[in-house]
Amino acid sequence: MKKSIKFLALALVIAALAAWLPAVAAPTKTLDNLQTAFNGESNAHAKYLAFAQKADEEGYPSVASLFRAAARAEQVHADTHASVIKSMGGVPKADVKTPEVKTTKDNLEAAVKGETYERDVMYPEFITVAKAEGNKDALKAFNYAKTAEAEHAKMYSADLKDLATLKGKTQGYWVCTICGYTVPKIDFDKCPSCFNPKDKYVEVK
Ligand SMILES: [Fe+2]
Ligand SMILES: [Fe+2]
Repeated sequence: MKKSIKFLALALVIAALAAWLPAVAAPTKTLDNLQTAFNGESNAHAKYLAFAQKADEEGYPSVASLFRAAARAEQVHADTHASVIKSMGGVPKADVKTPEVKTTKDNLEAAVKGETYERDVMYPEFITVAKAEGNKDALKAFNYAKTAEAEHAKMYSADLKDLATLKGKTQGYWVCTICGYTVPKIDFDKCPSCFNPKDKYVEVK
């Protein structure tokens, strides 16, 4: 009799653990990908703020503003990824390295490279996996980031091409606080990426 009570108690404990474990941190590939993306966005945020300072020092205020706007967008992405990680029972972890700052021309080249990789390789892979795993929140977070990175790549490329004409030029930017979409001016009522109203945008100079 005692033995069977022990067995029953043990079975109950195991059943309780089994019910509790998946809610704590289901180890999915998407959870790993969210961590990778959170780490990438956190580092991009730090890197662009350092690049902005350098662009100001070199007399390119419009390029500095673009770096600051993109940094704000990467912060939006990092925050969104972090909240999905937490909703899955994980703890967001980032290892933010000291950025390697070169000339503004080199920094723009590095930025184009980073954004292009995220747009063409990293996020498309993560999106495929999130779809396969049926993780809608992660899918939305990855799609928002991919769309914004595509715009960043375009704007960094344009500044790189026109750098010789940008000395002393000023230009402000607007960033969607929901999806990180980044534009030089607001000529729409709803965000072209997440379709939230334009009042979700903040100006970054
Ligand atoms: Fe970006
Ligand atoms: Fe948006």
